[in-house]
Amino acid sequence: MAKIHCGNASLPSCLITFIFLQFLPHGNGKADFSVLGPPGPLLAIVGQDKSLPCKLSPNISAEGMELKWYRDHLFSVVHMYKNGEDVYEEQMEEYQGRTTFIRDHIARGEATVTIHNITTFDNGTYHCLFKEHTSHSEATLWLKVAGLGSVPRIQVADTQDKGTWADCTSAGWFPEPQVEWRDLRGQMMPAMTHFLVSATTGLLTVMSRVVLQDKAVEGLTCSISNPLLPERKVVAHHLAAPLFRRFLSMEWRPVLPLILIALGLATVALVCVFGKHTREEPKTCVEKEAEDEDGVSPSLDPDTSSPKLMVSEDQKNVRRLLFEQDLPPSSRRFDQDPCVLAQEQFWAGRYYWEVEVGDRKAWILGVCLESLGREGRIPKSPKHGLWAVEFYKKKFWALTYPRTRLSPPQPFRLVGVLLDCDAGEISFYNVTCGSLVYKFSGLAFSGPLKPFFCLWTHDPRPLTLCSVVTETQDTEPSGGP
Ligand SMILES: *[C@@H]1O[C@H](CO)[C@@H](O)[C@H](O)[C@H]1NC(C)=O
Ligand SMILES: *[C@@H]1O[C@H](CO)[C@@H](O)[C@H](O)[C@H]1NC(C)=O
Ligand SMILES: *[C@@H]1O[C@H](CO)[C@@H](O)[C@H](O)[C@H]1NC(C)=O
Repeated sequence: MAKIHCGNASLPSCLITFIFLQFLPHGNGKADFSVLGPPGPLLAIVGQDKSLPCKLSPNISAEGMELKWYRDHLFSVVHMYKNGEDVYEEQMEEYQGRTTFIRDHIARGEATVTIHNITTFDNGTYHCLFKEHTSHSEATLWLKVAGLGSVPRIQVADTQDKGTWADCTSAGWFPEPQVEWRDLRGQMMPAMTHFLVSATTGLLTVMSRVVLQDKAVEGLTCSISNPLLPERKVVAHHLAAPLFRRFLSMEWRPVLPLILIALGLATVALVCVFGKHTREEPKTCVEKEAEDEDGVSPSLDPDTSSPKLMVSEDQKNVRRLLFEQDLPPSSRRFDQDPCVLAQEQFWAGRYYWEVEVGDRKAWILGVCLESLGREGRIPKSPKHGLWAVEFYKKKFWALTYPRTRLSPPQPFRLVGVLLDCDAGEISFYNVTCGSLVYKFSGLAFSGPLKPFFCLWTHDPRPLTLCSVVTETQDTEPSGGP
C-alpha cells in the first residue's frame, strides 16, 4: 500500500519511508504535545527512594494516554500505565515490586514513577514515553546512583620482618570513592588502594594500606568520600591508653579536649577514654608494661548474638533485653546462653582491646575458639576452647577448670584483654589502674580465636568495646629497617 503514495520517488527512498512508517508505535507519530523531564541528572542514594517526574507541555491531561518509563530499549520497562491502570506484564524483573506510579496531577499532564530501595543497577538513563492514538513523545532522564559506605575501620599490623602497616576498610560505596590518609601533622600519606565489587549488590568495598615508618600510628586518619556526595567518612587511629594517662597527669589537661577534637576521635573512644580518666587515679596500681602489640577495636557480630541480646548498629556495644527477640534460627547463634562473639578472629600475633563493663552486675569476657558450639548451655573452660574471666554476684572468677576465685583490689570498670597468640597467653587487666588481674598461659588452639562476651542478669547496662592503640613510642622496631 505504501508504494502507491510514493509517486515519482525513486525506489530506495520509497522503501526507507515504508520501513520508517512500520516502526513507529502508531500512525505518523507527529505529536501535538511534548514531554519534559528534569533538566539535569538526578541523584539517588542506595537504599532510598527516587522519583522520576515527567510532564506534558502544554499541560493537557494525560489520563487517557499510555505512559511508559523504560531504560535503554522500549522493552526494558520500568513501569507502565495504560487505560487508567498500572500494567505489570512487561515490567523488568529488576523493578518488580519496586515501583509506584503517582498520578495525582495527571489531569494537568504530570506523572511520576518512584523507584524504591535504589540499587546500583538503577544507575543510568531512563525515558518516559507518553502516547495517545497517533501521537507520542518522550523525555530522557539520568539517574546517578551514589552509595555512602560504612564508617571505615583501621587495623594496624606489626610484623617482625615485613614492617608495620595500617589497613583501612569500608564497604558499601558507589561509584568508586576517594581515599585519603593523613598523619598526625595532617600530611597526606601515599597508600595502596583496591576496590572489590560485590557480585550481588554492585557496591564497592575499599581496602587501603599505608606502610608506616617508625610505627607512627598516633593521629593517623583514613577518610573516604564519594565524589557525588558532600559527606565524608573518617576514622582516626588514636593514642594509646597508657599515653593518655601520662598526658592527663601533666599540664595538658586543659587543652586535651582540643587535642582530641583535632585528632578526630570517634565518639565511642571519647566516651571510653574520658569515662575512665575522669575518675580518681589510683597510685598504688602497677602500670601495664608498654609492649609491642596491636591495639584493636573488635566489632560485635550480630549473627552470633543470642536472641536475649541487642547489638548496637555500630556493633560496638551490646545490651541485655528483657524479652527475647524473634530471630531466625542459625547454627552461628548462641541459642541459650546470652553470649555474642566479635567479628575479628586471631591466629597469630599480639592483640589488645578494651571493654567498658561500667557498673554492670554480671558479665563474662575473653576469647574462644571460632569452632565453639553455640547450642544449649556452653561449658565455659579452657578444655572446651574458652578462656575468660567472669563477674557474677559481686565475685570475680577466672574460668579455669575448676574456677579460680580472684580478688582484684578494685572493681573493674574497664577491662583490658591482651591476647598473645604466639606465646599462647591471654591476660586480663584492670585498666582503671593498669594492673594485671589474671593470665592464662599455654593456650592450646588449632583454629582461630574470637573475642567472646556474655551478659548475665537482666541488668540493662551495656558492655562497650573501646578503640585503642597501644603505645609504640617506647619500643624500637625489632628487626625492621
Ligand atoms: C496549565 O498552565 C497554565 C499556564 O501555564 C495555567 O494557567 C493552567 O492553570 C494550567 N492548567 C492546569 C490544569 O494546571
Ligand atoms: C533493598 O535491597 C536490598 C538489596 O537488593 C535488599 O537486601 C533489601 O532487603 C531491600 N530493602 C527493602 C526495605 O526492601
Ligand atoms: C551512572 O549513570 C550515569 C548517567 O546517568 C553515567 O554517566 C555514569 O557513568 C554511570 N556510572 C557508573 C558507575 O556506571
